Amino acid sequence: MVNDFQIKWAPSILAADFAKLGDQVREVTQAGANYIHVDVMDGRFVPNITMGPDVVDAIRGQTPLPLDVHLMIVDPDRYIKDFVDAGAENIIVHVEACDHLNKVIDQIKSFGVTAGVALNPSTPLTSVEEILPYVDVLLVATVNPGFTGQDLIPEALDKLTRLRKLVDKSGYDIELEVDGGINELTAPLAVKSGADILVAGTAIFNKKETVETAMGRLRDSVEGVQRTP
Ligand code: DX5
Ligand code: ZN
Repeated sequence: MVNDFQIKWAPSILAADFAKLGDQVREVTQAGANYIHVDVMDGRFVPNITMGPDVVDAIRGQTPLPLDVHLMIVDPDRYIKDFVDAGAENIIVHVEACDHLNKVIDQIKSFGVTAGVALNPSTPLTSVEEILPYVDVLLVATVNPGFTGQDLIPEALDKLTRLRKLVDKSGYDIELEVDGGINELTAPLAVKSGADILVAGTAIFNKKETVETAMGRLRDSVEGVQRTP
């Protein structure tokens, strides 16, 4: 049984083997990923430091897939042009990290790429209600961002359900992305709650199985799953 809507997969390269990053990006591309998710962390907004525009530039040549760049950094407006120049096609900023979110969204769109806004688990939906007309993607963080391999926080899926209703009622064309702790047990729950795009790190890049096997297992887990009306 097929789903009534398209489910898209965005493997997070933060969980990949960095010594073979190009190979891993090509493997997920081959295995049917829809985006490559790049987790950028600055050691301030979140406690970890990861990668910057040079890594985006390096993987750009390895895949035709759009690069989905998730900026977990303070004052992200400082770096948007650098990530666009490096090849980002969707740029996601955190609502908690922007003093003037409208301006940051405008800035992202002025470069001809799509704009996403992410919410931490403790951030209420009211923080994005006013920007629905301007945003292309809303990302619900289902873990406190910073590290791969954490357990999904179930309450964050309740928020996703409410966000789905809010977006559907608004009539705006916004995709909902879910990020953190997605595996074959939680992916169906995320789809039921209204996710369009599923990010997965350790469920795809791990030492137990090939990327192809992992992605097949994830896809099977959501086959036929419908949204809760
Ligand atoms: C959370 C990041 C996620 C995360 C995904 O800090 O934004 O993209 O690394 O990894 P898993 O799927 O292992 O939770
Ligand atoms: Zn992410």
